[in-house]
Amino acid sequence: MTNSPSVFITGAAAGIGRATALAFATKGYTVGAYDIDNDGLTSLAEEIRLRHGSVVTGHLDVTDADEMSQRITEFVEFAGGRLDVMINNAGILLAGRFEDVDLGAQHKEIDINTKGVVNGLYAAFPHLRSTPKSVVVNLCSASAIYGQAELATYSATKFFIRGLTEALDIEWSDYGIRVIAMWPLYVQTAMTHDISTGTTRSLGINLTAQDVAAAILAAVAGTRLQKTLHQVHFPVGTQTKMMTLGSRFSPAWLTRVINKRLARQ
Ligand SMILES: NC(=O)c1ccc[n+]([C@@H]2O[C@H](COP(=O)([O-])OP(=O)(O)OC[C@H]3O[C@@H](n4cnc5c(N)ncnc54)[C@H](O)[C@@H]3O)[C@@H](O)[C@H]2O)c1
Repeated sequence: MTNSPSVFITGAAAGIGRATALAFATKGYTVGAYDIDNDGLTSLAEEIRLRHGSVVTGHLDVTDADEMSQRITEFVEFAGGRLDVMINNAGILLAGRFEDVDLGAQHKEIDINTKGVVNGLYAAFPHLRSTPKSVVVNLCSASAIYGQAELATYSATKFFIRGLTEALDIEWSDYGIRVIAMWPLYVQTAMTHDISTGTTRSLGINLTAQDVAAAILAAVAGTRLQKTLHQVHFPVGTQTKMMTLGSRFSPAWLTRVINKRLARQ
């Protein structure tokens, strides 16, 4: 194995994935940046190399299990046989009332946000297992705290990520692999650029992609306490921390009333 740790990131050409690729490159990681957006990847690679970082880029549609397996194998070979961090970040969001969102588009959203992550985990597993202290980071969302009106299917895909992360954290602890989920509320990226829902209006879009990237770096490093307690979920930003805490203590009827009120603005 080489001395530099390595990180594989899906959906790395833009937004949170891009900011995360830059943050890990700055920390000396060998970065594998993959996306369906080749132009975005080219400009990302230039930016990383300008900072004297090490990067490999390539086309990857996360819904294609064979392509996923191929890209991960190639990257691990480049990285000297190690996969320290796997970040399942690629995702899309469709906003609107459930019945108004095209069914085919909803199926695509489910495929990318859920099957795409399953594909990544499946292909990465042997490499994570053979790399000491490896970590998986799945992009969850504050929309997995309570089902979100006008984001119903998106929100449901993030509940899937929540469950998958919790289960694999337990299973893969046998191999010393940490499996964690990041929980940002709305982030200023292309994903939220053109949307206006009750909750984007009532809660605002306050986080930046860099905020999330910094939180991912910190969660991967992990404090001794976080590792000892096997912290699985990492809320990002004050709003999400408050909402997560609130939902733990409020009765179900009150959580529903609050969510309905926030969604009706
Ligand atoms: N933006 C937010 O408010 C927010 C909040 C919480 C969680 N998240 C999650 O963070 C992740 C990143 O979101 P973002 O805001 O950076 O989005 P973004 O739209 O800015 O970037 C997403 C990237 O994923 C890529 N992508 C889309 N489909 C793909 C596919 N099939 N295969 C590979 N790559 C694909 C896109 O080309 C793009 O580069 C997503 O999982 C999202 O659900 C976002």
